[in-house]
Amino acid sequence: MSEKISVFGTGYLGATHAACMAELGHMVLGVDVDEAKLSKLNAGEVPFYEPELEEVLQRNIAAGRLRFTSSYEEAADFADVHFIGVGTPQKKGEFAADMKFVDAVIETLAPLLTRPAVIFGKSTVPVGTAERLALRARELAPAGDDVEVAWNPEFLREGFAVKDTLHPDRLVLGVDRNRPGRAEEVARDVYAQLLDEEIPFLVTDLATAELVKASANAFLATKISFINAISEVCEAAGADVTVLADAIGHDARIGRKFLNAGIGFGGGCLPKDIRAFMARAGELGADQALTFLREVDNINMRRRTRMVELARESCGSLLGARVAVLGAAFKPNSDDVRDSPALNVAGQIQLQGAAVSVYDPKAMDNSRALFPTLSYANTALDACEEADVVLVLTEWQEFSKLQPADLDAVVAKKVIIDGRNCLNPSQWRAAGWTYRGLGRP
Ligand code: UGA
Repeated sequence: MSEKISVFGTGYLGATHAACMAELGHMVLGVDVDEAKLSKLNAGEVPFYEPELEEVLQRNIAAGRLRFTSSYEEAADFADVHFIGVGTPQKKGEFAADMKFVDAVIETLAPLLTRPAVIFGKSTVPVGTAERLALRARELAPAGDDVEVAWNPEFLREGFAVKDTLHPDRLVLGVDRNRPGRAEEVARDVYAQLLDEEIPFLVTDLATAELVKASANAFLATKISFINAISEVCEAAGADVTVLADAIGHDARIGRKFLNAGIGFGGGCLPKDIRAFMARAGELGADQALTFLREVDNINMRRRTRMVELARESCGSLLGARVAVLGAAFKPNSDDVRDSPALNVAGQIQLQGAAVSVYDPKAMDNSRALFPTLSYANTALDACEEADVVLVLTEWQEFSKLQPADLDAVVAKKVIIDGRNCLNPSQWRAAGWTYRGLGRP
């Protein structure tokens, strides 16, 4: 059955969820406070780079199933099923997550709910949030106890957001076990097509659903930091972490995915989520359980420093050196530069006196806004012009396909450092280049 749905927040998560729910045949209203974003979305334009999303957005706007508004009144009037997809960034100067955007949705929406409604939270939140919000929503809503809050965490990856939303590995729904309501029934209706495809659907209590999400991201971060720690040992021992990862990855219990050593994880999720998880565990008196995440964070940040050191070693001194940086996004197929290891490295190198020229296929505007003092080139080749060293910091296909011959005549010195281990060392060495990778001899 087609449902009427509202989705609060139109960032990477919210805009994707809204468009994909319309793609499933529902009538969807996306809600945000940012008028500039709304007018883009209403015109069928995605305000960020996400492959496939624009087509889904345009198709569903044209079909009359999807539109966007800033009006909470309109949303409360239109839908009885609401999804929260706003951000939960790290608080300034603290590890904890800032809940002001999630709280604002409930504070604004709940007083407008005069009919029974189900609110599904999708944002990544500290365990205990759903229970707190449910109580607050019941207090504020004219419909009172007929307003339910359930938690339906999102596991989508940027760059694969549409595919991950329409064909997720699993659906998780946390419901209030003490107040049996309609949330599961409504979720089964909303996700009927996915359930027909036999996508696993796990119904849990609220706290478990919140913790599933925090644990999933903590595990992924730990897996990346594990291989990056091993890569430090490989560097010390003269071994090759990429071959090692292939070899241990053949063990199905370990698996090869998320074992790519390099300059580590960044983005708007993993770094802040592991910190928020530690902070929340501390509040619950279980801080010892997650102290290892502090080390996961340290290992990750050390990789950035190591990359700067390698650049310095290769130039002798960074003062006055010309450094080409290929990649600014926190990973390929994204224009997201939030806590991007690539931009962080570029910034550190510039602060040490080098002239840094950055190029990224999609993240130029976001990079300029975040780091206006770096210089930006129009193409990869322009960035490499007269460079003393070329750093590959995001493994865009455009960079991993680069051939030594493309750069031979462009650079001042044939030195390349592969921060993502995405190039073939023997090919570059055979062409007379000095090649350095992370965790490789
Ligand atoms: C991550 C999770 O993978 C999603 O499941 C989750 O839904 C999302 O956070 C979220 O909480 O919203 P995302 O931030 O889009 O997704 O990016 P990932 O693909 O997880 O990559 C994160 C970082 O790890 C990137 O900087 C990437 O370059 C790095 N990475 C990844 C490695 O350094 N090595 C790897 O082997 C894999």
